[in-house]
Amino acid sequence: MTENSPSEGTFHLMGGEFTNAGSASSELKSTLIKVGVEKSIVRRVAIAAFEAEMNVIIHAVAGTLRYEITTEAVTITVTDMGPGIENINQAMQPGYSTAPDWVREMGWGAGMGLPNISKHSDLFKIDSVVGEGTTLEIIFDLKEKNADS
Ligand SMILES: Nc1ncnc2c1ncn2[C@@H]1O[C@H](COP(=O)(O)OP(=O)(O)OP(=O)(O)O)[C@@H](O)[C@H]1O
Ligand SMILES: [Mg+2]
Repeated sequence: MTENSPSEGTFHLMGGEFTNAGSASSELKSTLIKVGVEKSIVRRVAIAAFEAEMNVIIHAVAGTLRYEITTEAVTITVTDMGPGIENINQAMQPGYSTAPDWVREMGWGAGMGLPNISKHSDLFKIDSVVGEGTTLEIIFDLKEKNADS
């Protein structure tokens, strides 16, 4: 996508668009490798970005995935236009999924996306309003935190 630079960018995601599913997270992964982010961090970002991207495609009408890379951190913000999540605590439970059968037949709907995002990131915030939409903020530290700093 031409609007994306190595340090920040936006991908547009469409609900139900399975043909290009995963392309935003894989493009972000290539960018992180290009700018020299450590392999193990690239892997964690790619997993979290992929789960967040798939959740918009599977569960939402449409949304965006934005990223920002600084010397300090990689920040991913995923916002969608609804339907929103009624009970976030329930949605965060491993194994909880509302994915319909046709989605499960494609191999999705294990209910592990949100728990995996949380597990692989250094900071994970999720906000949702039913009828409005869901926003995820996912942060990965690029610098070791020093106890004496
Ligand atoms: N962006 C979203 N909009 C609306 N509902 C969502 C969104 N993301 C998650 N959910 C709800 O939270 C549930 C749990 O999400 P999670 O990603 O953990 O599992 P899943 O998407 O159902 O399955 P998997 O991610 O393992 O393929 C979903 O089944 C859905 O009900
Ligand atoms: Mg999911």
